[in-house]
Amino acid sequence: MKILLTGGLGYIGSHTCICLKEAGHDTVVIDNLCNSKISVKDNIEKITGSEIAFYEGDIRDRGFLRDVFQREQRKQKIDAVIHFAGHKAVADSVEEPIDYFENNIAGTIDLLAVMEEENIRNLIFSSSATVYDPKSPVPYKENDPKSPVNPYGETKYIIERMLCSLAASKPSWNIVILRYFNPAGAHKSGLIGEDPGGIPNNLFPYILKAAKGELPALSVFGNDYPTPDGTGVRDYIHVSDLAEGHMAALKTMLTGRGEENPTVYNLGTGRGYSVLEIIEAFEKTNNVKVPYMIAARRAGDIAWSFASTEKAKKELHWETTRGIYDMCRDIWRFGQEDLV
Ligand code: NAD
Ligand code: UFG
Repeated sequence: MKILLTGGLGYIGSHTCICLKEAGHDTVVIDNLCNSKISVKDNIEKITGSEIAFYEGDIRDRGFLRDVFQREQRKQKIDAVIHFAGHKAVADSVEEPIDYFENNIAGTIDLLAVMEEENIRNLIFSSSATVYDPKSPVPYKENDPKSPVNPYGETKYIIERMLCSLAASKPSWNIVILRYFNPAGAHKSGLIGEDPGGIPNNLFPYILKAAKGELPALSVFGNDYPTPDGTGVRDYIHVSDLAEGHMAALKTMLTGRGEENPTVYNLGTGRGYSVLEIIEAFEKTNNVKVPYMIAARRAGDIAWSFASTEKAKKELHWETTRGIYDMCRDIWRFGQEDLV
């Protein structure tokens, strides 16, 4: 198959691109490099031993999109699009909501419009566990109530609603929505991983820098949550498991899907780890110290989040195979490459 990935040089897109190439598919990558580097392309090619078609540009530029689709379709039909491109930092979205509405929502509208023009109607969309109502009990099931609490989450939920309306009025569209839980880890080669730059907001990238001595002690945001050790619990999923989840979703979408359209799947492990458990696992796995201190709760954080994985297991025949030690080991190896 030939699959086009928007945001394909980003953290999750690059790992998915590797999986697709390793399974023998053709890939076309679009990225404007606003949160990734061109060296990722070289590293994907090094890992897979084959070239990827890459177009630098913005999904909000319909002329550019049309040109890429038409040029690539002349060679071979594009079977599906996986839409990763977007902004993803919760705190930034609170500061600059218009940027988030513009890039995530308007960008998706541009992509959908050009896909419709070019008769490509198979789409996988990157959504997030952040769409769930934090008041719902865990594990979150796909049909649980939604109530995003920040502009980033709102963009994901609005796009989900748009995709529902699109599939309802135009059933020739074939859409899968994947709600990721907390991606972590890196490619086992150590060449590809998450490179947030500056001071990371997310737990694993911060731990990596604190353990390397590049940042001061990790602030553990709150130890008075109603969890076993008082710190926040999340469902961390290895980014390579997540990438394989896309392969499974693609297969189900293009071969044997049911009536539901869009079909929504949680991609998580179904198990949560607390911040202190992650610190301990990181220290043990890599034989390093993670300096930390207990700090106040971070605004907007919740105590628990983890996925119900039943639907993905049953319908995608997919489940995670890597654990928390793999995530700790692989992110540390990536950190040693001095790319971070
Ligand atoms: P990322 O920032 O590493 O990757 C996104 C890529 O899209 C980047 O390479 C960026 O340069 C590109 N991009 C952004 N806007 C663009 C535009 N207008 N045109 C072209 N390219 C553009 O993020 P990621 O972690 O790989 O996330 C991928 C998707 O998954 C995002 O939509 C994100 O919201 C979603 N998601 C991520 C997480 C997470 O914790 N990483 C969790 C849930 C959902
Ligand atoms: N944490 C700390 N210190 C830090 C960073 C994080 O204690 O320096 C804690 C948080 O309080 C939380 C846990 O580590 O308990 C995980 O925090 P992250 O920031 O890594 O992840 P979140 O669960 O807050 O958010 C992530 C993504 C969002 C996405 C959400 C749900 O960043 O984009 O998962 O999928 F919406």
